[in-house]
Amino acid sequence: MSSEKSSSPGNAKAQGFSTLAVHAGEARQKPGNSMTDPIFCTATYTFENTQAVLEYLDKKIPREEYGRYGNPMEKVVERKLAALEGGQSAILFGAGMAAVATFLLAKLQAGDEIVLFDECYHRTREFCVKVLGRFGVVTHLVPACDYQKMEAVITPRTKLLLSESPTNPHMSVVDLERFAAIGRRRGIETAIDATLATPYNLRPLEWGVDYVIHSCTKYLAGHNDMLGGVIVGRTEALEPVRKLRGVIGTISGPLSMYLLLRGLKTFALRMERHNQNGLAVAQFLAEHPRIERVYYPGLPSHPYYEVARRTMRGFGGLVTFLVKDADAQQTARVVDALRLPRIGPSFGGVESLVEQPIIMSYHDFTPAERRAVGIYDNMIRLSCGIEEPEDLIADLRQALEK
Ligand SMILES: Cc1ncc(COP(=O)(O)O)c(C=O)c1O
Repeated sequence: MSSEKSSSPGNAKAQGFSTLAVHAGEARQKPGNSMTDPIFCTATYTFENTQAVLEYLDKKIPREEYGRYGNPMEKVVERKLAALEGGQSAILFGAGMAAVATFLLAKLQAGDEIVLFDECYHRTREFCVKVLGRFGVVTHLVPACDYQKMEAVITPRTKLLLSESPTNPHMSVVDLERFAAIGRRRGIETAIDATLATPYNLRPLEWGVDYVIHSCTKYLAGHNDMLGGVIVGRTEALEPVRKLRGVIGTISGPLSMYLLLRGLKTFALRMERHNQNGLAVAQFLAEHPRIERVYYPGLPSHPYYEVARRTMRGFGGLVTFLVKDADAQQTARVVDALRLPRIGPSFGGVESLVEQPIIMSYHDFTPAERRAVGIYDNMIRLSCGIEEPEDLIADLRQALEK
């Protein structure tokens, strides 16, 4: 059951985004004639007789064997995510980091080198530098969107160029055409973690990038109630990744898959509101006298506004900003004065969330290490949910006036 056309109603390519989010990857008639896909809560799958085992091993019968290698619902979710991303195949994981780690472990070996833009999720940086480093893989960190520096560190041993776009939490936007062209010219594969953008706002494969990675925990599932990750790309190129997932078990669980599938039904609608709220909040903050700087690619003042406008449909719900003349404690008071967004890590859910990066994600960094990666005492990251934009703005106004 690998082909999209066997189960997608109609011609998936001709369908709009929201139609794909609702229908792509799903069988029209489901087990038990159920409207929704059933949750298969099973560790193993049984065979009628030995002949059935042999036919399965000969790949004559498409079916499941053992939970670490697959689950019928996993296939539905993977087909839907591949359709949304416009890719051949998707592989689902138990978390975004499981997708990142399994992908890198499958593709790299001792002596290989990768180039990573330095503005990125701190665990991705940690996995590349500290974990892969122990196995003889060398990571070159170069300043985000510095394509000349990226080219300059490439050697014959470079196997992968990796970046986020937009980056977290600085919201820098990679020129994907340029990024993919470097990879093609130098014979190196390219991967983009587009978690902040989602396929609604950005489709990296269309710009020539080889792989797209997402933390499904965020906008794709959208309800702050599960963890998941996905990688999308060419089926053949992803085969080693799928095989390694079966070896190390970085799979998604049945309930998480269900929550993701359910969340995806309203994905396009939610993204419209996240985009609207992100832009409205960013515009409000940009005009506010107590704000020093706003990082949001939908603002003309953002250094990557032109690239973002050219490549993205919307700019998402994440807004990072600096409070003017505030130290860490004063900034924390702004966070604590907010009534609507709750304080917590993560983003992309229907509920707004807020965090002060020096405290939430970078507490184990020294001040010098934080400055080196552009994390400041007066920085706040706000994930706009799908509440009314006026309510979010009113809440920010009262918090900043305190
Ligand atoms: C850009 C990005 N990629 C990957 C991850 C990791 O995802 P997960 O928390 O689902 O493992 C995160 C988490 O915040 C992220 O922000």
